[in-house]
Amino acid sequence: MSGETVDRAGAVKETRVLLRHAQDPAMATIDGYRSYGGYETLERTLRDQEPDEIVNELEDSGLRGRGGAGFPMGKKVSFLPRGSQAKYLCCNADESEPGAFKDRELIQRNPHQLIEGIVISAFSGEIGHAFIFIRGEYDQQADILDRAVAEAYEAGYLGRNILGSGYDLELVVHRGAGAYICGEETALLDALEGKRGNPRLKPPFPAVQGLYGGPTLINNVETLSNVPHVVANGAEWFRSFGTEQSPGTKVVSISGCVGRPGNYEVELGVNLRDFVFSLGGGMLEGRELKALYPGGSSSPVLTADEIDLPYSFEAMAEAGSMLGSGSIIVADDSVSIPHMALRTARFYHHESCGKCSPCREGTNWTVKMLERVVRGEATPMDLDIISSVQQNIIGHCLCVLGDSMAMPVGAMVKKYREEFEQVIAAGAMQGFPGEAGREAQADGSAAGDPDAGPEAAERVRLVGRPLPEGPQEVTHG
Ligand SMILES: Cc1cc2nc3c(=O)[nH]c(=O)nc-3n(C[C@H](O)[C@H](O)[C@H](O)COP(=O)(O)O)c2cc1C
Ligand code: SF4
Repeated sequence: MSGETVDRAGAVKETRVLLRHAQDPAMATIDGYRSYGGYETLERTLRDQEPDEIVNELEDSGLRGRGGAGFPMGKKVSFLPRGSQAKYLCCNADESEPGAFKDRELIQRNPHQLIEGIVISAFSGEIGHAFIFIRGEYDQQADILDRAVAEAYEAGYLGRNILGSGYDLELVVHRGAGAYICGEETALLDALEGKRGNPRLKPPFPAVQGLYGGPTLINNVETLSNVPHVVANGAEWFRSFGTEQSPGTKVVSISGCVGRPGNYEVELGVNLRDFVFSLGGGMLEGRELKALYPGGSSSPVLTADEIDLPYSFEAMAEAGSMLGSGSIIVADDSVSIPHMALRTARFYHHESCGKCSPCREGTNWTVKMLERVVRGEATPMDLDIISSVQQNIIGHCLCVLGDSMAMPVGAMVKKYREEFEQVIAAGAMQGFPGEAGREAQADGSAAGDPDAGPEAAERVRLVGRPLPEGPQEVTHG
């Protein structure tokens, strides 16, 4: 197994390791996977290697978690206590963040790569039970996993005495019920235990006390899918891709206002602008880049002038944002940033579990204040209040869901303050008319109609195209 360079679109080339041979539908079956060398690494590992050797290789490779936080995977395995006590591996396939859809493709096209990664990782941590927690809406992918797991049991890659090595591993696919918070690792553990998925206090971290109170390794689908390649080819090979601090390739999801949305596997460290304008297909005709979220909807937005950067964990952090799960959402000049901020806040408000007040109350107030902004009912002082609410959320929550709203919303208000002020000054706008607009609509005149008259045209110029409306009221049961 090695990398394959695919030049599909000019400046930035794909380097396919995880998505190599992915176009072959046979890869979704055990025979297809084995025809490309699949499970050979597992066979060699169980025959010739000790768990500690694998852990060292993973640590040396510098493989960082692909689910959001970018924590080194090998280090996480090394935190598990050694020995034969009950330990668990949980694969996080919840993938519910707006803009993220790469785990879906990895599972759909190559489920056995993930299963092989799970078995090798579990072996390295001397773990006897593994789970794949997959989001409830990924029905098709869960069916694919069910089939692949059954095939792997049948072939002796799972179960008791795997390939005659004396190593036992049981693997269960568990379907979630559709809550974004269940992607947070400790909420995921509660959900797996049959409880409501609420985040737990940390410490203790899952490596010490996780599922059913036992030491638990939690990793993302893409992280675990990398493991067979690292073990097969070695840490040095893995480090030959990417940057010093962000080695390897990354499956990047790009969506929004671009010509070719989709998943592309590239070396970490490629130029972000080049990626958007080559593989991503650039802007739609006549449009200009305005802003993008570089790492899913929870990452602080970057302006069009801020994206001449390597797409790596360290460069995104230096730019005041984050690489997160590697999901780029692009907004062009037709998008209204105040609407984008509102849409973002509504999502996190809706998904907040309500356990801690900064997130429960802060997301609620942020939505209410942004609604006032887009209805033309706010004052410029409200922008300062919105910013200060975000500051009071960041770092004060039980998990990072609260920060996930506060960081992008705070960044939008800071970087596009003028646009927020213009929207407020405009007083009323299409789709969200203020008092004057509502009165005008009620008496049949044209306020709120983007195509009617110079005033309305000016509003469209100021606020751009509104995003489709989400729910106005969200309550927590
Ligand atoms: C609200 C929230 C949602 C998350 N959703 C996911 C998810 O869907 N998939 C995922 O892998 N990690 C998600 N994470 C990150 C996990 O908590 C955890 O860091 C990750 O699964 C660890 O795997 P990794 O080290 O391989 O990235 C989420 C975190 C938060 C706070
Ligand atoms: S930050 Fe939000 S989602 Fe996380 S525990 Fe607190 S209320 Fe729940």
